[in-house]
Amino acid sequence: MQKIVVLTSGGDAPGMNAAIRAVVRTGIYYQMEVYGIEGGFSGLCSGSEMKKFSLGSVAGIIHRGGTILHTARAPEFKEKAMQDQTARRLKEASIEGLVVIGGGGSFCGALALHELGVKTVGIPATIDNDIPGTSSTIGFDTAVNTILDAMNRLRDTATSHQRIFIVEVMGRESGFIALAAGIAGGAEAIIVPEIKPDLEEICRRLLKGIARKKTHSLVIVAEGAASAYDIGKVVQEKTKLETRVTVLGHIQRGGSPSAVDRLLGSRMGAAAVELLRQGQSGVMTALQGDAIVPVPLSVATSGRRELSRDLYEMSGILAM
Ligand code: F6P
Repeated sequence: MQKIVVLTSGGDAPGMNAAIRAVVRTGIYYQMEVYGIEGGFSGLCSGSEMKKFSLGSVAGIIHRGGTILHTARAPEFKEKAMQDQTARRLKEASIEGLVVIGGGGSFCGALALHELGVKTVGIPATIDNDIPGTSSTIGFDTAVNTILDAMNRLRDTATSHQRIFIVEVMGRESGFIALAAGIAGGAEAIIVPEIKPDLEEICRRLLKGIARKKTHSLVIVAEGAASAYDIGKVVQEKTKLETRVTVLGHIQRGGSPSAVDRLLGSRMGAAAVELLRQGQSGVMTALQGDAIVPVPLSVATSGRRELSRDLYEMSGILAM
C-alpha cells in the first residue's frame, strides 16, 4: 500500500491530533505517502485538495486539543450519490487506504465507503464514549477530567453558600460521561438517559446529606436525560434549598488531551496503519482489555453502547 488519506469527522475530541500524528509517522515509517483532507467527509466529497504530510508537518501537535485537519458534521454524505462520487474520486487519485477518525456518525460514512471498495479503517474518537465494541474512545478521558475540574470549582462555591448545584454534561443520548464524572467527582446524584431518575429519592438523599451537615451537593445530569434547568426547578421546589444550574457545554470538548488520550490516540493511529497494511478494511481500532484489536464497523454502528447498570448502582451506594 502506497497512498493513504486521513481525515477527522464529527465532533472534535482531544487526542485526535495524537492519532493523526501516529497515522502520519507510522505510514511514513512504512514508506507510504500520507495525505490529509480538511473538513472531514465534507472536504472529501466537495473535492478539497489533499495535502501531503511530512514527518515535520505533525510536529508540535500531540499536546493540542481539537484537530489540525478541522472537522465537520456532513449530512450531505448520507446520500448514496455523494458516497459513489467520493469512492470514485479516491480511486482516481490512486488512494489505497482511508483512515477515518471520529464517532458513530462518521463510522456510518466510513462503512459506506468500505462497502464501495475503499479500504477504510476507523479510529473511535468522541468524548461521548458511546461506540459499541470498544471500551474507550479518544477524548473521553480528557472531557471527564475537564468536568472534574469544573466540579471542584463548583464545590468551592456550593460549600461557601450551602447550595445545591445541578451540572449538565454532554454525552448525546448516552450517560457514560455523566456516570464517570459523577463517580470520580463524588456527586450526590447522577442522572443518565439509560435509567429513569427517581427525583423524589434524589431529593430525599440531598436532604439527608444536609441533615448530616453536608455543606454542598452536586447533581450531574447527562444532556440526553433531561435539561438541568428543569431538574433544578424540581429540586429547589421539593427540597426548598437554594439551587443553581451550570451547563458546561463545549468547554468539555476543548483543552490539551490527557496522557490517557495521547497514548490511546498514538496507539490507535499506529494500529490503523498496521491494519491497512494487512489488507484489512471495514474495521475500527478498538480497545479491548489492554489490546487494540480490529472490530467491524458494522458492530461500531450497530446502535448504542450499553451503560453498566452495576456501575450505576454502585454510584448510588457511594453517594449515600
Ligand atoms: O458527540 C460529541 C458532542 O460533544 C455531544 O456530546 C454533543 O451532544 C454534541 O457533540 C454537540 O454537537 P455540536 O458541537 O455539533 O453542537
